[in-house]
Amino acid sequence: MTIEPMQFTIKDGRTATIRSPKMEDAEPMLSYLYRITGQTPYLMNYPEETSKYTLEGEIALFEGMNKAPNQAMILCEVDGQLAANCMIRWGSHIKTRHRASLAISVLKEYWNLGIGTRLMEELLRIAKNQPQLMQVELEFIEGNNRAHALYKKMGFRITGVKPNAICLKDGTLLDEYMMMYEIKC
Ligand SMILES: CC(C)(COP(=O)(O)OP(=O)(O)OC[C@H]1O[C@@H](n2cnc3c(N)ncnc32)[C@H](O)[C@@H]1OP(=O)(O)O)[C@@H](O)C(=O)NCCC(=O)NCCS
Repeated sequence: MTIEPMQFTIKDGRTATIRSPKMEDAEPMLSYLYRITGQTPYLMNYPEETSKYTLEGEIALFEGMNKAPNQAMILCEVDGQLAANCMIRWGSHIKTRHRASLAISVLKEYWNLGIGTRLMEELLRIAKNQPQLMQVELEFIEGNNRAHALYKKMGFRITGVKPNAICLKDGTLLDEYMMMYEIKC
């Protein structure tokens, strides 16, 4: 699904735009993925693992997400630069179609400016507009206090933990926490 482009003011006074992805975003998205995976240990890939992504693959992903009724990707631009990216999706299996999952990332130079909050508001707005959805789920890695604080502020609560779910290159093992936002029960 797509969203209407929207503008808002971030905490440093600049204007940010949130919108659905377009074909021209494929190249900036590849650079974005390479950069952000080097800026935090709390995403699932290392930068070199993002080299498997291609322009064609990104374009196909954007088109698929924009067309599908059960998923949405939203980008955030500041000063014409790709600053953040998020997505929400839900399935059609009878037993699990009441559950959506989401993922979000913001480039380091834009952290703590309210972009994550605004994107989460938009993802939750989309979720609440789907009558069959009862809950939205996400995961965060042990130590990601900024993400945990954001999700808690938005109304998510911790529902479980997967011990040692993540193994960093240096052998450090980190737990993964599951969180849930209840739309209705
Ligand atoms: C987590 C992330 C999405 C947050 O986005 P953001 O744009 O920085 O979020 P916001 O500015 O809207 O809000 C961040 C909140 O965390 C708080 N915060 C910042 N640093 C913190 C810390 N070390 N501990 C606790 N809270 C912290 C801020 O005060 C702010 O709360 P407030 O709005 O009540 O003041 C972003 O930092 C990011 O992309 N990180 C790297 C990738 C990642 O971790 N993605 C999530 C994977 S689960």
